[in-house]
Amino acid sequence: MLPSRDYVRVLDVLRKGLEDIAVKETSITYIDGKMGRLFYRGYSIFDLAELSSFEEVSFLLWKNKLPNIRELETFKKTMAEQREVPGQILEYLAKIDPSSNPMDVLRTTVSMMGTADRSDSDNFEKSIRLTSKIPTIITSFHRIRAGLSPVQPDSSLTHASNFLYMLTGQKPSEVEEKTMDVVLILHADHEMNASTFACLVIASTLSDIYSSVIGGISALKGPLHGAANSEALKMFLEIGSPDNVEEYVYKRLSRKERLMGFGHRIYKTYDPRALILRSYADKITSVKGNRNLYEIARKIEEIAVRSLGQKGIYPNVDFYSGLVFYSLGFSPEFFPTVFASSRVVGWTAQVMEYLNDNRLIRPKAIYVGDIEKSYVPIEDRS
Ligand SMILES: CC(C)(COP(=O)(O)OP(=O)(O)OC[C@H]1O[C@@H](n2cnc3c(N)ncnc32)[C@H](O)[C@@H]1OP(=O)(O)O)[C@@H](O)C(=O)NCCC(=O)NCCS
Repeated sequence: MLPSRDYVRVLDVLRKGLEDIAVKETSITYIDGKMGRLFYRGYSIFDLAELSSFEEVSFLLWKNKLPNIRELETFKKTMAEQREVPGQILEYLAKIDPSSNPMDVLRTTVSMMGTADRSDSDNFEKSIRLTSKIPTIITSFHRIRAGLSPVQPDSSLTHASNFLYMLTGQKPSEVEEKTMDVVLILHADHEMNASTFACLVIASTLSDIYSSVIGGISALKGPLHGAANSEALKMFLEIGSPDNVEEYVYKRLSRKERLMGFGHRIYKTYDPRALILRSYADKITSVKGNRNLYEIARKIEEIAVRSLGQKGIYPNVDFYSGLVFYSLGFSPEFFPTVFASSRVVGWTAQVMEYLNDNRLIRPKAIYVGDIEKSYVPIEDRS
């Protein structure tokens, strides 16, 4: 038996969490973590949030250019035509245990879509299909859980407006529609995060794009990634009043517990998406009458930035997105699914870009166990 250390080659480098390892070149998203800047295809996220739309950003991420008027109109129409989901999916949603985790339900229904799609459409067409249908799945399950019937998509509405319409059965106000549109734009891509990497690993084996997206949904489900938004909102609800914030935050930090919606592997300053969402959270809570939650969030931010800022821990996108989703009518268990409904654009754009220059992703592990052990028959084991 060799002692394990002899077996480890000295040149092997272990990077836990693959921190700072690049897996591909990209022209999709650039993050400047030091300065808190984010660009999609070279355009600042601040400009896109203010001036663009989710449909236009999807086109930009997939096609690497801003569409002209005619291209955008045709593209919007194509997206709107794809919103209906097969009856088999609605039947499944009606039958499934209503207490099921919505991310599990989304994963299963995307899998059903993949099984049913025998078309010879290319990955771009499949990506449109996925992006257009996922909101219908999410809102149908949201309503079924609440004892309501699903609302049929309305192809005359924008993606954001139709999403909220299918959720509530009411056409949204201008401020609701703009808030939803912005929140979708902000979540559409974020370079090589855990869920995108999961998608690429699957794509690199030349599996199909539905399987990649299922992998992305599975990775996004975790509280260190896409579920931090619901955890942050639950924290605001638990605190209950701005007067309780100080005690809560200090208690939590003294117990070495993390504040959800704070910290980021890349950003060591404010996540620009958190800054944009903060202003939308401000607007939407003013009209929705849940101002108390916004004031709680602001106070947490103030105290936590004072305590953690020197370590580079600042609010990330999830800190305010949960509050925005909640104000728009989504229940906390559904927040990660809304995140996924937008990130599917980034997942598929990154997969298509990777496949242009594919290489099977197959990293290695550094073996630290023993070898050449003698096999002991079961009757001789103590
Ligand atoms: C996102 C996250 C996993 C990134 O973590 P990371 O880059 O691996 O950072 P580390 O876990 O190495 O943490 C570095 C230090 O900051 C602290 N820290 C990180 N995030 C923190 C948080 N949310 N609250 C309090 N302290 C935090 C760690 O305790 C650690 O402190 P130490 O050096 O004194 O031990 C982490 O910040 C986190 O768990 N955040 C909460 C979940 C969340 O909001 N996720 C959404 C990300 S978009």
